[in-house]
Amino acid sequence: MKNNTAGGSKALTVAENILKGIPAKRKNLIFFLHQVQNQLGYFPEEVVLKTARHFSVSPAEIFSILTFYSAFKLDQSCAHHIKVCQGTACHVRGSEAIMKEFSRLLGIEPGGYDRRKGIALEAVNCLGCCAIGPVVVVDGHYHARVHLKEVEEIVAGLMTGEKSNGTCKI
Ligand code: FES
Repeated sequence: MKNNTAGGSKALTVAENILKGIPAKRKNLIFFLHQVQNQLGYFPEEVVLKTARHFSVSPAEIFSILTFYSAFKLDQSCAHHIKVCQGTACHVRGSEAIMKEFSRLLGIEPGGYDRRKGIALEAVNCLGCCAIGPVVVVDGHYHARVHLKEVEEIVAGLMTGEKSNGTCKI
């Protein structure tokens, strides 16, 4: 795995600030992981040890969660990371057309990464929030019930450097 030293102290500060408001109980672990992911756009490896100590779990357990759920990513290798859910519930609500529209507008194949644009387009399995599908996650922000016309707005926001607000957080 990559070692993200750049921005490490900032990441640790962000994590520590979030931890201050979260009781050290195992049941709060996933909530905390999402908070860090949402604020930083990824979950830095250097935060794993601190997290393990706080919640009294092993680093291995945290890594297994971070690598199992596609809502998390462990590096910030791309400026923008778009995940389009292709799970069954999202699929029947049109996620395939949404993925095609992202692909067409960005000129990036599903699963591809455009280094020049700094954008990764990823098809992911069920994100666990089927009721709000079709779901698109842009830089950690969840967009619920995405319509085709919204895809253009999301892409335009990325191109102009706007931060994605999303429409729903988990
Ligand atoms: S199928 Fe998309 S969130 Fe479950």
